[in-house]
Amino acid sequence: MNSPVLPAVPGAARKPVVLIAEELSTATVEVLGGDFEIRYCDGADRSALLPALADVDAILVRSATKVDVEALAAAPRLKVVARAGVGLDNVDVKAATQAGVMVVNAPQSNIVSAAEHAIALLLAVARRIPAADASLRAGEWKRSRFSGVELFDKTLGVLGLGRIGVLVAQRLTAFGMNVVAYDPYVQPGRAAQMGVRLVPLEELLSVSDAMTIHLPKTPETMGLIGEAELAKVKPGAIIVNAARGGLIDEHALYVALKERRLAGAGIDVFTTEPCTDSPLFELDNVVVTPHLGASTEEAQEKAGVSVARSVRLALAGDLVPDA
Ligand code: NAD
Ligand code: MLT
Repeated sequence: MNSPVLPAVPGAARKPVVLIAEELSTATVEVLGGDFEIRYCDGADRSALLPALADVDAILVRSATKVDVEALAAAPRLKVVARAGVGLDNVDVKAATQAGVMVVNAPQSNIVSAAEHAIALLLAVARRIPAADASLRAGEWKRSRFSGVELFDKTLGVLGLGRIGVLVAQRLTAFGMNVVAYDPYVQPGRAAQMGVRLVPLEELLSVSDAMTIHLPKTPETMGLIGEAELAKVKPGAIIVNAARGGLIDEHALYVALKERRLAGAGIDVFTTEPCTDSPLFELDNVVVTPHLGASTEEAQEKAGVSVARSVRLALAGDLVPDA
């Protein structure tokens, strides 16, 4: 049920203004209802975003809109930044808090979709599905060219055993993979309950046949997998990144793939997005998608509804519960 928004004040005509700066599900607008003036802009376009912020009370974004110091300064009435998804790396949370602006996200909304997408990328690389698809459509029938590898009985290394990392570990355990994880913030006992063995990063790199990254983007994790780390991976391993661009150094990844030290990579996220041109695109052992981890009907509905509810509560001056 929708919570009441700002009580009607006689003579007060102004409805709170909510700016939707990226494409969100129709359910988002339905939950917001008629209590707000809803406006739209392309948040990735700074020349559109900054003037649009002048009199807004709330802004709803995904990952393409940077809500930084400059954007906050352009929004003197802003009370809430709502991130319809998990990662808050595009929002300067510290600056927002200092400015008295609440930041909310939807941390559970898209985790199943993101986990399934990471697994889809892993399977696509292991079985060379995009290349085989393209070859067959080109009129070829080359069964021997597209031989792949099984996941069964192989070792999966999960970097970041949080919400998404756990879902990936559970699902790939069902594939018969042995799972190790690197996450210094998780208790070994909790991991052991899931059948996951926590290991240092170096060990994960050297024992994993497939690695999948589910870390937040922080100063500590940026470039965590660079040239030195890729030099330690088990020859023939596959790596998947459906978390954030820049967690793997893209140039070092390119070199490792080109030299076939890595058998393949599945990449959903890039250091700079949008990314429509990359040396990685030249390589036939790479499967790429344009940041689609959360792009399912279910995830977008959940994310939109969750942040719309949070915006209603926040603008009504009510407590916003943890999602
Ligand atoms: P989470 O916070 O639940 O889990 C992150 C885990 O990383 C935590 O367990 C934490 O302890 C661990 N961690 C943090 N710093 C670490 C470090 N320096 N070394 C090792 N481990 C560290 O987050 P989540 O919901 O699982 O999301 C993971 C990532 O996936 C985020 O970057 C998020 O933005 C991204 N994501 C991407 C998509 C997509 O569309 N591709 C969709 C959803 C989420
Ligand atoms: C997230 O962190 O939630 C993802 O990047 C997906 C999105 O931006 O919608």
